[in-house]
Amino acid sequence: MSQGVHFIIGASGQLGTELALSLVSKGEHVVLSDVRRPAHQNLQSLEYVTLDVRDRGAIDAALIAAEASHVYLLAAALSARGEGDPEWAWDLNMRGLLNIMEHASDSQTVKQVFWPSSIAVFGPETPAAAPQCGERKPTTVYGISKNAGEQWCAWYREHRGVDVRSVRFPGLIGHRAVPGGGTTDYAVDIFIEANLTGRYTCYLNEDERLPMLYMDDAVDCIHDLMAAPADRLKVATSYNVHGMDFTPAELGAAIAERVEGFTMDYAPDFRQAIAANWPDSLLDAEARADWGWSPKIGMNELVSIMLEAKKVVLSET
Ligand SMILES: NC(=O)c1ccc[n+]([C@@H]2O[C@H](COP(=O)([O-])OP(=O)(O)OC[C@H]3O[C@@H](n4cnc5c(N)ncnc54)[C@H](O)[C@@H]3O)[C@@H](O)[C@H]2O)c1
Repeated sequence: MSQGVHFIIGASGQLGTELALSLVSKGEHVVLSDVRRPAHQNLQSLEYVTLDVRDRGAIDAALIAAEASHVYLLAAALSARGEGDPEWAWDLNMRGLLNIMEHASDSQTVKQVFWPSSIAVFGPETPAAAPQCGERKPTTVYGISKNAGEQWCAWYREHRGVDVRSVRFPGLIGHRAVPGGGTTDYAVDIFIEANLTGRYTCYLNEDERLPMLYMDDAVDCIHDLMAAPADRLKVATSYNVHGMDFTPAELGAAIAERVEGFTMDYAPDFRQAIAANWPDSLLDAEARADWGWSPKIGMNELVSIMLEAKKVVLSET
């Protein structure tokens, strides 16, 4: 891994918490930033800057002061929250990205930027198994912003020489931080409720299949993509990465095999309409070929890990 300064924006969120913990465990110099302090106890003593990513002056000052070499832009409005406040979601997701891209364009210090896209760039016309170059007609504010963001990344790579790297993450499932308002959050919430109450009411239909990824695989994915030689990266927008796919009913059945008496029912809400327009799975041959993407955790291992670890997250955060 590079010896540099890893600056995480949105570090107190679900992915930022996990990425920060991983970078620290590798002995890297990490600086955290967010609009709220990190909750995880193992991050309390790290360098932390309160920072609104929409504020270009504050971005410039913080990245220069930290001498940031690697910037991870994770601050974003996610799919479900974004639909409730479209202008806020668009402004946060676009202004934040443009601020980082402009800073990186001018900076001699910033070497690489990581910015995650999402399965939300796809829409109803995309095949159920979404190809890398599948039709992108997103139906949510979140998806529209990620789609535009992918094109901005390609533009800054091409015209300003910014080494920005990106993947389209599916739903991320981890146990070290709570999720921040996405449509796939049920696949984390279900484990908390399975351990606490032994029952869960799902806001998606029982047969709504979605692609998912275990958080440790997602974090390794970021490390591997950032470490890949630039000339290997043929996709200028964002790489599909797939971990596993399942329906709520399949996940519930796997939990019921391990948690005696676990029951599940369904009360679909507006998030079902969002999920219905997303693919069931992602075809990720390009990521595998170009930089060796290879996830380790499938659904059965995920269920075992999450059921055991959920007891930990509640006491740690
Ligand atoms: N979690 C998933 O399932 C998933 C899936 C696909 C893509 N992604 C992407 O990964 C990234 C991280 O997602 P996450 O799940 O950690 O989200 P999250 O909501 O858990 O974390 C986002 C963080 O950004 C912070 N933030 C909000 N507004 C800010 C601002 N103006 N300035 C600075 N920080 C601000 C929040 O306080 C929060 O800590 C996002 O770009 C998201 O679109 C996540």
